[in-house]
Amino acid sequence: MAKKERDDGDEDGYETVDTEYYNIEPSLGDLLIKFVENNKEEIFRGFFMRISDNWIDYELIDTADGERLERWGDVTLIRPDPQIIWKNEGESPKWASAHARYIRSSSGGGSWDYRRKLPESWHISYGSLRFMVKPTGFKHTGLFPEQAVNWDYCGDIIRAVGRPVNVLNLFAYTGGATLACAAAGASVCHCDAVKGMVDWARTNAKLSGLDDKPIRWIVDDANKFIRREIRRGTKYDGVILDPPSYGRGTNGEMWKLEDSIYGLMEDITSLLSDKPLFVLLNSYTTGLSASVMSYLLQMTVGKRFPIEVMSEEIGLPVKQTGLSLPCGSTAVVKFL
Ligand SMILES: C[S@@+](CC[C@H](N)C(=O)[O-])C[C@H]1O[C@@H](n2cnc3c(N)ncnc32)[C@H](O)[C@@H]1O
Repeated sequence: MAKKERDDGDEDGYETVDTEYYNIEPSLGDLLIKFVENNKEEIFRGFFMRISDNWIDYELIDTADGERLERWGDVTLIRPDPQIIWKNEGESPKWASAHARYIRSSSGGGSWDYRRKLPESWHISYGSLRFMVKPTGFKHTGLFPEQAVNWDYCGDIIRAVGRPVNVLNLFAYTGGATLACAAAGASVCHCDAVKGMVDWARTNAKLSGLDDKPIRWIVDDANKFIRREIRRGTKYDGVILDPPSYGRGTNGEMWKLEDSIYGLMEDITSLLSDKPLFVLLNSYTTGLSASVMSYLLQMTVGKRFPIEVMSEEIGLPVKQTGLSLPCGSTAVVKFL
């Protein structure tokens, strides 16, 4: 039998012991070294972050001093992002030629400072999907480009499964995920409390040549709509949710992420079909952590189905530095 010496703290110093009890499995340090070697690229770019790096029409050019410099088609915009707590000494010269910059007001909100002429709205593409973008009064442009990694994820599953798929997209905004699922062949129910957002999503469906696809456009409060769907007995194979930290339903119903999400996930669990494909919950940097979402999904969806939850940060590549900007986290439920 192999023998090994160890320091057991005895006054006598070293004694000989059986390796049956000591050191026969790789140590945590060895495992960690192996893990780092196998995942060097991910670790360099941002620790296990899923990155939306298939964009052509959108680019995050640089980040510095609380702001992002982004290209949306031919237009470059500067927008505030409070998590950008660093400076960038070798910053891009493109900051100086941006078309517009969103400036926060000390009394809340903010406004755009237009430095060069730009159209009221314009179009950008992501693969076969086409979107109208414009600078809105609340710094948004009508797209969260980091979400593309989730659009691809859902689209790939729907294409691969080879059967009819019914998807619910809640807090659906301008419809990125709705269009990705519809383009992959799913029937989609798109729900958002703001009519203007649903209209914008319909415009995007038309621009993408998807306006004849089976998409139900619903202007309603998420909670209310879900309860109605439960009463009707509707079932979904996939659910996508991108809830804000705070929001309002169509009749002013208060949505507060921490208070509302558990009950909503319980209701969504009962809406899932017998053979669900995915549940995807996203949260922005100010919302829930990846591990809180993972726990929450295990406590709701995981009580009805055997599942595995993959919960990671999502982000965007920054051209100037080669690093990745975290833009929140997404928890994805895989059904076993
Ligand atoms: C953060 S955005 C979603 C981003 C989008 N899914 C994307 O990836 O591009 C949140 C959306 O939730 C909607 N919303 C807020 N409160 C709501 C509520 N109570 N019921 C339904 N939708 C709500 C807002 O109108 C907004 O469009």
